[in-house]
Amino acid sequence: MAKEIHEQPEVVGHTLAHYLDMGSEKVALPTKLPFDFKKLDRVSISACGTAYYAGLVAKYWFERFARLPVEIDVASEFRYREAPFQPGNLAIFVSQSGETADTLATLRYAREQKQHVLSVVNVPTSTIARESDAVMPTLAGPEIGVASTKAFTCQLSVLVCLAIAAGRARGVLSEEDERKLVRALVEVPRLMSEALRVEPQVEALARDLAKSRDVLYLGRGTAYPLALEGALKLKEISYIHAEGYAAGELKHGPIALIDETMPVIVIAPFDRVFDKTVSNMQEVAARGGKIILIGDQRAEHESAIRFFKAITMPDMAADFAAIPYAVPVQMLAYHTAVVMGKDVDQPRNLAKSVTVE
Ligand code: G6P
Repeated sequence: MAKEIHEQPEVVGHTLAHYLDMGSEKVALPTKLPFDFKKLDRVSISACGTAYYAGLVAKYWFERFARLPVEIDVASEFRYREAPFQPGNLAIFVSQSGETADTLATLRYAREQKQHVLSVVNVPTSTIARESDAVMPTLAGPEIGVASTKAFTCQLSVLVCLAIAAGRARGVLSEEDERKLVRALVEVPRLMSEALRVEPQVEALARDLAKSRDVLYLGRGTAYPLALEGALKLKEISYIHAEGYAAGELKHGPIALIDETMPVIVIAPFDRVFDKTVSNMQEVAARGGKIILIGDQRAEHESAIRFFKAITMPDMAADFAAIPYAVPVQMLAYHTAVVMGKDVDQPRNLAKSVTVE
């Protein structure tokens, strides 16, 4: 898992290079699409586990950059709830292995419902890839660790390129908007390398986190799916109970759990919803909660909150912060599990690829 976390700047760099034309600063998809983004009025995304959270981040990107409504659900729910589809729309499936049983079943259902089927997969020979109308590969290389890391950030990289391509095709983004976005995207691998340098801070924090019984993760916007992913990673490999919440939902339940012993990890890059997250942190602080901020220097200074600890990320364009911010989130779960003496690569009861229902 450590190796795969550290490979991310490189594999995300490869993946982005496959989808971007750096010379013209445009998205250049490697495969011709068998549909027209202009003609779509809805996209559905389904996946399981970490791949589902990649899809949840993509929802924010598709809706923002392409003004395309996105419906997203875990494949195990999508497949049985007889969701109505308008024929001719797009169904996206995200899967590292390309063999997950629920995701594959949902793909077949979407096909019956006359959707264009596009998959984002890491294994190009997989069943999901073979049964898709268009395949957008992630170039993560083989992923061995049961807890997905580099496949996740590569999925995000592919999905953001698709969302920008959709935005251009639908006339929501101008050529100049696209150039600006691509210029920011090209920085992502370097930002991920810088993010890896926060590892000593993360390791120190992990020693403390390892003593916790429960951990709460909060985030807004694209940091919300990251909060879910952070909680998933921590429980998968350290067996500490963790929950991810949209920061704004704090007062609708999890606030009742907060006391001096409860670590609350707030993933908050300095973005347009940062102020809102600050008010949630104040609510936690007022109840003596232990706030751990994963944010940049501006976020630390402008929030004027006393953090228990802060992981300081490099400054970056907020649009794609979810990709570099995945790095400290993964490292935190990894180091906590290592401190606790757990086998991070073979967590109990979990399988790398779930090919049965
Ligand atoms: C399992 C793995 C996860 C993975 C999920 C979906 O639960 O342990 O790491 O995210 O399956 O797998 P897929 O291959 O479809 O991405």
